[in-house]
Amino acid sequence: MTTTPVDLLSAQGLRITFPGRHGAEPARAVDGVDLDIRPGEIVALVGESGCGKTTLARSLLGLVPPTAGQVTFDGKPLDYRSRALKAYRKRVQLVLQDPSGSLNPRHTVYDAVAEGLRIHGYAGDERQAVHDALSRAGLRPPERFFLRYPHELSGGQRQRVVITGALVLEPELIVADEPVASLDASVRGEILALLLRLRDELGLSALVVTHDLGLAWNIADRVAVMYLGRIVETGDVEQILTAPRHPYTQALLSVLPEAGGDPVVLTGEPPDPSRVPSGCRFHARCQVLASGEAERAGVADACRTQDLPVLAGGSETQVACHWATAKVAAGS
Ligand SMILES: Nc1ncnc2c1ncn2[C@@H]1O[C@H](COP(=O)(O)OP(=O)(O)OP(=O)(O)O)[C@@H](O)[C@H]1O
Ligand code: SF4
Ligand SMILES: [Mg+2]
Repeated sequence: MTTTPVDLLSAQGLRITFPGRHGAEPARAVDGVDLDIRPGEIVALVGESGCGKTTLARSLLGLVPPTAGQVTFDGKPLDYRSRALKAYRKRVQLVLQDPSGSLNPRHTVYDAVAEGLRIHGYAGDERQAVHDALSRAGLRPPERFFLRYPHELSGGQRQRVVITGALVLEPELIVADEPVASLDASVRGEILALLLRLRDELGLSALVVTHDLGLAWNIADRVAVMYLGRIVETGDVEQILTAPRHPYTQALLSVLPEAGGDPVVLTGEPPDPSRVPSGCRFHARCQVLASGEAERAGVADACRTQDLPVLAGGSETQVACHWATAKVAAGS
């Protein structure tokens, strides 16, 4: 008998709107998102600065209550009461971008890692738990790191300590917001390899937030491409990255060295969540509309006037684009 894999973490119809300041319109930072992460899966959330990645990630952690929609973990809606949230944050851990900013300069590595255990009233052998977590994160022999301070470590080692602080609580899922953005290229590879090893050895799931599609390529099973508060294309990483269908994904990919062709330079104003355009939210910057291709496919009016449906969660490959949908319908 086959069983359908159960999603570990899901968002359904998630919206997060921040009130506008000084008479400005409210900012629709997350504007209708369905997203599912299954056990043992790494999902990359990709998009340019300001598209809502961190807001979505923080909401999945229960740090930002949704304006509408809901987050479920293990099939149950998040309970935002403080005791329930504390228990939830043991199971789902946040790893932040800047290892220096995440570590207290006056705390030793041991104390930094043990902090989470103490907050959660860990009843086991603390020293052993810190030792094992450091070892799993590749800081070996662990005792050599116990009494070191952050300034005595390299950037890569600091990021490993941050990851250890998350791992020590044996979470089921980590949400890593730009986990390697502040690291040198050589160290980035090491940290990404560590996340992959943790998935394979511990069955850990991860949502990795990045503006770098190349990084997604190296690490993720699935990718969700976000533009102005919505996921515009999602699915299997290999499929999306080798045959992107949304013009925005195509533009993001075109600037990677691996792409080989001419980079697509996006024109128009950078997206502003307090002024979401009507029609397709990408239309003012879309190279396919600007080049007349959407006109030739008979969808240019729809591009300018018809919003696209929110993509359903799940693992299938999906795209929110009138032109891409018309191409499939026309069999081209
Ligand atoms: N607390 C807040 N109050 C008002 N607006 C906010 C708040 N937090 C975020 N925003 C706005 O919401 C939008 C999305 O921000 P967010 O930080 O989620 O983007 P991001 O994709 O993570 O960007 P980056 O890649 O630069 O980290 C931005 O326009 C931002 O200015
Ligand atoms: S719907 Fe139209 S404007 Fe939007 S991405 Fe597709 S082709 Fe471009
Ligand atoms: Mg961010």
